[in-house]
Amino acid sequence: MPQLAAATNEMLTDEQFERERLEVYAEVPTTPTVDLDEAFEFCRRELGDRNCSAVMADAKRERRTLVEPRAGVAHIEGERVLLQFLEEAGADLLPVTIDSMTRTHRFDHASRAALDSTPARSLLNGYPLIHHGVEPTRLLVLERERPVHLRANSTDLRLIADVGFACGMSGFVSGPVYSTVQYSKNTSMAEAIRNWQYVYRLIGKYTEAGIPIMDDALGLTQSASCSVPALMHAGVVLEALIMAGQGVKHVLAYAISQGTIAQDIAACLAVQELTEEYLAKLGFGDVSVYMTSNHFAGAFPPDEAAAYGLISANTFVAAMARATLLYVKSIEEGFGVPTAEGNAASVRSTRYLLHLLAGQDFGLQSEDVEFERALNLMEGRAILDAVLELGDGDPVLGTIRAFEAGVLDEPAAPSKIAHGDVLVVRDVKGAVRFLDPGNVPIPEEARRLERQRLDERERLKGSPLGYDDIVADLDHIVGSAVL
Ligand code: 5AD
Repeated sequence: MPQLAAATNEMLTDEQFERERLEVYAEVPTTPTVDLDEAFEFCRRELGDRNCSAVMADAKRERRTLVEPRAGVAHIEGERVLLQFLEEAGADLLPVTIDSMTRTHRFDHASRAALDSTPARSLLNGYPLIHHGVEPTRLLVLERERPVHLRANSTDLRLIADVGFACGMSGFVSGPVYSTVQYSKNTSMAEAIRNWQYVYRLIGKYTEAGIPIMDDALGLTQSASCSVPALMHAGVVLEALIMAGQGVKHVLAYAISQGTIAQDIAACLAVQELTEEYLAKLGFGDVSVYMTSNHFAGAFPPDEAAAYGLISANTFVAAMARATLLYVKSIEEGFGVPTAEGNAASVRSTRYLLHLLAGQDFGLQSEDVEFERALNLMEGRAILDAVLELGDGDPVLGTIRAFEAGVLDEPAAPSKIAHGDVLVVRDVKGAVRFLDPGNVPIPEEARRLERQRLDERERLKGSPLGYDDIVADLDHIVGSAVL
């Protein structure tokens, strides 16, 4: 592996970027190197009226909530039909989710599976972008009226980003914290950050050329189970700072809904506030931040009727918080990769509910929301300040050192990088609390407030909360106890 440059939040020089670009393309000699000037010209000429960041900026100004599913199939005809179907269902942004073989650089496997797929039957869980290449993919993007969002997750998406943006897709997903913690086992944070800095610099170059590309900051968003919002927010803010360091100007600040109205609304508000606050603090006040809500990301109830209930409760949260974007989960999430029909049904149901709830954001004034928001801000600032101090003010160095120290941690991460010393449990209202924050620096006052909420549950239960309660809580959203 090539020697990594020193870990800092400094912007890559053009020379560093160009050198790295040669390495990225050298891995797949069959993929022609994108001519960036031609790609900029193509995007400006053909897609000036269909840009993800521009659509987000409009929605934010008008306080509307946009809706986006995730989807992708192997066959190019299948992908065309899928995008058209989702557009007709009312998706405001159209996703092109890349398959996991391509994401993990198993390009030959992706090609074979693509060739064995038919328009109706996909042998991959997404669109094999490198197999299909720039020209055919450009046609897919150009046919649609809505902007297209390139979606993938892994610790090295440099080639996917380089090829995908040249096709006219104007949004991307994820970053070093989320992809390392959730999508890898052994990758080091330093390596992931270096790879992502390339992607962010590329986004910076498109942005400077007049094609603003947005990226989702997911940070320590917990997939598969649940976590305390402030910890998730801290990761979002750190990814936003690393993006901003390379010239990204449009950042989606994520808050995942976990089924508890007040805590979920507060998470939307707090993540937006913290991201804007720390961007400004570190000199990136010109970056636009978009509050992005997400239907629950863990195990779903397998019963579709119940799944509608869950996504409706989550949609209510996005409407109350007036999130700019809401990522939609399919009502088939309990079974596997969603079908076009399942995704379209979820989009329609979500849009209907947003229509019904428009303007009714009274939930913001509630005492419970204010309590959770203040708690998130207090905890979020404490974690972020500790991380930045560890990095002598540099968010890149801070992030690397904070994972080593367990100051950044996650309750249920697939990656070895998280110590996993954090234990979380739900309180009587379902809000997720620290049973044990491990080495995450939660202020005394916040510890006390969280403990009070857990004492309530212990009183009802008649004994201390422990391991069995943590495990039982994993089933809270699946609803096995009632279904
Ligand atoms: N088609 C539809 N949905 C997908 N997701 C991921 N890949 C696809 C795909 N190819 C959705 C699933 C998953 C989430 C991360 O994204 O709902 O839970």
